[in-house]
Amino acid sequence: MYLDNDDERVLAGEFGETRQKMMEILVALGEVYGAEKLVPITSAQVSGASYKTIGRWGLAWLQSLNARAAVPAVLNPIGMPREGWQEFGIDEEFARRQAEVVEAYRKLGIRVECTCTPYYLRITEYGEHLAWSESSAVAYANSVLGARTNREGGPSALAAAIIGKTPYYGLHIVENRRPQVVVEVENGTGPHAGHWGAIGHVAGKKVGNRIPLFEGIRPNRDHLKALGAAMAATGAVALFHVEKITPEARVFTFDTGDLDRVTVTQDEIEALFTETEVEAVAVGCPHCSADELRELAELLRGKTTTKPFYIFAAKGVAKHNPDLVSVIERSGARVIADTCMVVSPRMDEFASIMVDSGKALAYVPGMCGALARIGTRKECVEVATS
Ligand code: F3S
Repeated sequence: MYLDNDDERVLAGEFGETRQKMMEILVALGEVYGAEKLVPITSAQVSGASYKTIGRWGLAWLQSLNARAAVPAVLNPIGMPREGWQEFGIDEEFARRQAEVVEAYRKLGIRVECTCTPYYLRITEYGEHLAWSESSAVAYANSVLGARTNREGGPSALAAAIIGKTPYYGLHIVENRRPQVVVEVENGTGPHAGHWGAIGHVAGKKVGNRIPLFEGIRPNRDHLKALGAAMAATGAVALFHVEKITPEARVFTFDTGDLDRVTVTQDEIEALFTETEVEAVAVGCPHCSADELRELAELLRGKTTTKPFYIFAAKGVAKHNPDLVSVIERSGARVIADTCMVVSPRMDEFASIMVDSGKALAYVPGMCGALARIGTRKECVEVATS
């Protein structure tokens, strides 16, 4: 892989041991994937932030590093809200360890926004090269914004943040961004026909790691977010196109004649929905947009919750919408920043959780040891307040 003079000096250790290690990670990755060079990035998004997932060895590794991010870089959700973790039910030992993880990232120059929706906080433009690692954020950046990022691991995203570059391969190269399979969604009139998380949950299993092109659907940006997050979880989708909607499907003309075609049927969608009793309800996977908070506020106005109801959103989004947060919280529901239903140990205490997200439906059983039930946001509110 070609390295310029500065890269070579970093690799030789002239700028410290941490930068040298980070460059070694990027070079190793580039060589595995046959990258011809490194490409400068405009931002990074770093996962591996919850103490629940990285544990003490991950923390010790972070604390051994000594450098600063060279580009704007944002941290993924951690295992607890930084404010009010006691009320959220986090124990002191976990909170102490989690605070050490946050401090280690802060020292590395990573902005501790603790969100999987960094695109609500900083504008990311079409064509920008990024190194993002949260799979739903990767799907959103590539598909909805038209930026270019591979699905990075936590260490490679951190390495890219510190070096300011990433290996040029995979989805950084335009020719690799063409659709590989066409997806049709059966028209339906069932109660969950337009549930984008459920559609993505089914579609992800069918397309695996291929790049899908959806035909005949008209999702908005929040729908695309839910669709991509679910496909990234049940498949390994890092980029998808929607005919006439997503940026590259509007810029390029794709020849789909020879591609495989799959159909997401209404029966497959409805089969995901059950009437199981749940102990808690959690929405905001990925973290809620302002529009989603507005919808929840309207649904909850004048109601009272009868079981724990958590709504996850980036702190920046919640802060900009104090009126919505106060309507939501008057019902007894809680808007929680910095964390989520999958990466927080708080959710491990429930035996069954209702979610509105195809991604959470896939991850809650394995990550929280809880039974997961999916519903629309309206159904989640009904269950939380009945
Ligand atoms: Fe975000 Fe957590 Fe879901 S990181 S995408 S809310 S699993």
